[in-house]
Amino acid sequence: MKTVIILGAGQFGRAVSRLLNTEQMDLIAFGDNNPALHHMGEEDRIRMGFPPRVPILPVDQAVAMSPDCILTGITDGCRTRQLKEQALSLGFRGEFLLLEELYRCFDIRSATLKQMARRLHQQDIPGQIAELGVYKGDTAWKLNALFPDRRLYLFDTFEGFDSRDIQKEEEYGCSFAKKGDFSDTSEAAVLNRLPFPGHAVIRKGYFPETASGLDHETYALVSLDADLYAPLLAGLQYFYPRLSPGGMILMHDYNNERFQGAAQAVADYEKDYQRLSLVPLCDLHGSAVVMKPAV
Ligand SMILES: C[S@@+](CC[C@H](N)C(=O)[O-])C[C@H]1O[C@@H](n2cnc3c(N)ncnc32)[C@H](O)[C@@H]1O
Repeated sequence: MKTVIILGAGQFGRAVSRLLNTEQMDLIAFGDNNPALHHMGEEDRIRMGFPPRVPILPVDQAVAMSPDCILTGITDGCRTRQLKEQALSLGFRGEFLLLEELYRCFDIRSATLKQMARRLHQQDIPGQIAELGVYKGDTAWKLNALFPDRRLYLFDTFEGFDSRDIQKEEEYGCSFAKKGDFSDTSEAAVLNRLPFPGHAVIRKGYFPETASGLDHETYALVSLDADLYAPLLAGLQYFYPRLSPGGMILMHDYNNERFQGAAQAVADYEKDYQRLSLVPLCDLHGSAVVMKPAV
């Protein structure tokens, strides 16, 4: 068993702690120089997604614990190098595992999407493909490539977050998102990236208004990635009843402290409508897969 510290206690550092092989690795501390994290109580830490009974220390104190291995919990290359240099200057001579390098090799969310597509093809699950929250099309082009013969609905304002949704975020304390975040994109830029643009149907504007006229559509796979509570709840209300049996939703940000609206939307949907078959993923963004039982 190796002792490990994770340097960087942000969203990705916490996600990494959930991925750790605890039969081989004993996580003894997080190291982070944000003083607000050092004095947090156990209950708050657990609510934020930290594992129980693991202290969060200033970086020098965490390194002073002389772990066998340092795992950096950030994906930014420059910051990773700074942390590594800091640990070396503090006398650490053990093993480094750099998330930045692992992240370039492994992409759990995309790999899961491929496996979902494979299963949907094998089972011949009918229905169209959709994404709510497209931004620059990073996921949209993958969906289009995985389903070259199906229609791909792309729902986005293409002008970033809407003030109506931001008002709800503030009311419910779900995030610090701002009106217009993610506005640096366009439908043309997204269409240009798609391998089969002829199958894409852009629904530009405010969701759920942009779903009007699509009452009778059915879906095999939906990517819900609008970040905020209101569109995600509306997304579940619109898409789940129209999902084919055996169809799936990739719900981004379900376990994400920066955008807590996804988990809230799922909870409220389950309270008002029905329980969902939901499996959380151990990717860095805290995604989850919702599946409609096959009949
Ligand atoms: C995180 S980005 C999506 C990222 C994208 N799925 C990708 O793979 O890179 C969130 C997107 O949701 C969109 N969005 C949020 N609320 C919306 C709403 N009510 N109607 C339409 N689009 C919305 C934003 O405009 C933004 O482009």
